Formats: sequence, structure tokens, C-alpha cells
Amino acid sequence: MTVPRDFDCVVKHREQVLCGVVKTVFDCAEIASHALPGQFVQIEPSPDVFPVTRRPITINRLTGNGFELLFDVVGSGTELMAQMRPGDTVRVLGPLGRGWAIDPGSSWLLIGGGLGAAGFQFLMNSVDSVTVLIGASGSDRVVPLDSCRVITEDGSAGEKGLVTALISEELLDGADSIAVCGPVAMMEAVWNTIPEKHRRKVQVSTESRMGCGWGVCDGCSIPVSGGGYKKCCREGPVFPGVEIDWKRWKEAGL
Ligand SMILES: Cc1cc2nc3c(=O)[nH]c(=O)nc-3n(C[C@H](O)[C@H](O)[C@H](O)COP(=O)(O)OP(=O)(O)OC[C@H]3O[C@@H](n4cnc5c(N)ncnc54)[C@H](O)[C@@H]3O)c2cc1C
Ligand code: FES
Repeated sequence: MTVPRDFDCVVKHREQVLCGVVKTVFDCAEIASHALPGQFVQIEPSPDVFPVTRRPITINRLTGNGFELLFDVVGSGTELMAQMRPGDTVRVLGPLGRGWAIDPGSSWLLIGGGLGAAGFQFLMNSVDSVTVLIGASGSDRVVPLDSCRVITEDGSAGEKGLVTALISEELLDGADSIAVCGPVAMMEAVWNTIPEKHRRKVQVSTESRMGCGWGVCDGCSIPVSGGGYKKCCREGPVFPGVEIDWKRWKEAGL
């Protein structure tokens, strides 16, 4: 097993971009030069506060000399991360995990729910042809991406409804690969909307509570078809949709 590297990264920019969502840009040429779309980093929220462990966040996009994260402030770790300011130095482990499997020249359909679309920009920048569908509760929760079709539950941005309403046979036929990321219930609804004949194209970016982030603690299991588990941090976070045991995953509430 390859031991990932830990870096001192300097915060270059920090901004609240959506309701409860913070964008932070870090300088780190080493992570930026090795990162692939769909990979994540483990951030140390604060060197001073114990026992807040590292928090996993997907790389949203690469910047000139570093990378950008978008994160929802939901608890103690992300609250500390939201307090990081330009000039602060932060310990960052990464890049980690297996990202999207990209065939050269392939066309992609990306389907995201809420903050699940954080990370899509990196994938969008890395493929030749892409259509992006984003669902969110309201306009204040739509992840900013270069171009996408939006639908919101309250109709405050784009169409009104759920992202599954935007999925059409035409879009599925036109895609070589389909990327799905969001809350488990949303991803399950998307999976159930996609006909059997298109399911082998689907890749799913999973999120599980994590400890180490690189395969040593067994703290991040995702149930897989045929029984057993795989590690979200090392064998994922992106898995083929057909590999996931959707029923056990939902029941486990991981
Ligand atoms: C590979 C990976 C990539 C991720 N990328 C992003 C990202 O780009 N942007 C982003 O906003 N978040 C992302 N997350 C989720 C993020 O890591 C958690 O929200 C964060 O760790 C919560 O830490 P906390 O201390 O603030 O909250 P805690 O106090 O630990 O938890 C607060 C609440 O959030 C829930 N929660 C915590 N961790 C997760 C999780 N992994 N999945 C679902 N619910 C969780 C808890 O159940 C609880 O209800 C990612 C998670 C993984 C595993
Ligand atoms: S988080 Fe430790 S093995 Fe995955």
C-alpha cells in the first residue's frame, strides 16, 4: 500500500459562496500536479483542537498552483475549516482515493444533487464532451459550475422539481459514461430512473464517514454486490454503479 503524503498548504482565498457553503483555495503544487478528477483530500480542521480528526473533501477544481474545495458547514470539523483565512497554513493529506474512470474521447452525462456536485468542475474540465444536470433544494444551494442545467425543489432556480425529471432517454443514449454524486437517497432515485441497458455506464461517487482516509482503519465501508464491503477511501470513492449493493447501502445509512 502506498502511504499518501501530507503537505503544509497555504490558504490563498476563502469565500462564502452559497448558504452555509465555503469555497477555500489552497496553494500546493504537489497535490495539484498529481490530483485526478474525483479524488479527495483529508483536511486537518485545526492543529490546536483535539480530537477533531481530518475531514474528507473532494477536489472541486485545480487552480494555477493549487486546488479549490467547496464544503458545507455541517458540524465541528467544517465549522473550524470555515474559519481558515488567507495566509493560514493547513495540513492536507492527498490526493486520495480512486476518481472517475475516464476513457479518452468519451462523452459524459453528470447528474449531481446539492453539494454532491462539488467536484464536478474538475471532471468537466477533464473530458471532451459533457452535459451536466444539477438538482438542489433552492437557488442558494446550486453549486456554481461553468455550465449546467438546473432544477430546484422550490423552483427558485431553473425548472421546478427533482433532478430525476431532467434525465431523458436521449441524454442517456448520447453518453458513454454517466457520473452520479449527491445524497444517497438522490443517487438511488437516479439509479432507479436509469434503465437496465444504461446502468453499466454509471459511476457513483460515494461518501462515507471516514477515519484515516487511506485504507488502514476499516472505517468507511461501502456494501458491494454479492456480499462484502469495499473501502470508500481507497477502493473508491468512485465505484461502478453495478458494483454497489444499493439496498444494503441505504439500509446501513453509511
Ligand atoms: C470522499 C468524500 C468527499 C467529500 N466531499 C465533500 C465535499 O466536496 N463537500 C462537502 O461539503 N462535503 C464533502 N464530504 C462530506 C464531509 O466530509 C462531511 O460533511 C464532513 O466530514 C463533516 O464533518 P463535521 O465535523 O463538520 O461534521 P460532523 O460533526 O462529523 O457531522 C455533522 C453531520 O454531518 C453528517 N456527516 C458527516 N460526515 C458525513 C459524510 N461523509 N457523508 C454524509 N454525512 C456526513 C453527520 O452524520 C452529521 O449529521 C465528503 C465526504 C467524503 C467521504
Ligand atoms: S477511512 Fe480508514 S480505511 Fe477508509
